[in-house]
Amino acid sequence: MSKKEGVTRFSVSAEKSLMRQYDQLRKKQGYKNRSLAVADMMRDRLVEHRQTAGDYDAAGTVTLVYDHHASLIQQTLTALQHDFTGMIVSTLHVHLDHHNCLEVIVLKSKASAIKKLADRLIGTKGVKHGKLSLTTTGVDLPA
Ligand code: NI
Repeated sequence: MSKKEGVTRFSVSAEKSLMRQYDQLRKKQGYKNRSLAVADMMRDRLVEHRQTAGDYDAAGTVTLVYDHHASLIQQTLTALQHDFTGMIVSTLHVHLDHHNCLEVIVLKSKASAIKKLADRLIGTKGVKHGKLSLTTTGVDLPA
């Protein structure tokens, strides 16, 4: 290991077949070198860990697909969102077709609070598919 201008170099051992497959994926994903790809993996692991450990400031998006004809769903989802205006940054509504709506709700709060509201939104009767994507606010995460 050597240190130079804030950068640490280290060597990693991996099975040849693993390295070959990973290099193919890395190139497909547009990473010019292994360092950039590994740094992204490290950041991803840090974000993932923080998501499950403790209460911290986070951001996230909840994506919902539902049939707006389903009874009370629109009212339920709207009421829920009016109860949590403090953490809802923005909402995007797309009319997918005659029946189906797609809604993306952007949230910024403590991770646990985001998870809790996401569970309620996704668990609302009539929601066909719901997904929370929890991420970092970017603060405390080195570039
Ligand atoms: Ni709609």
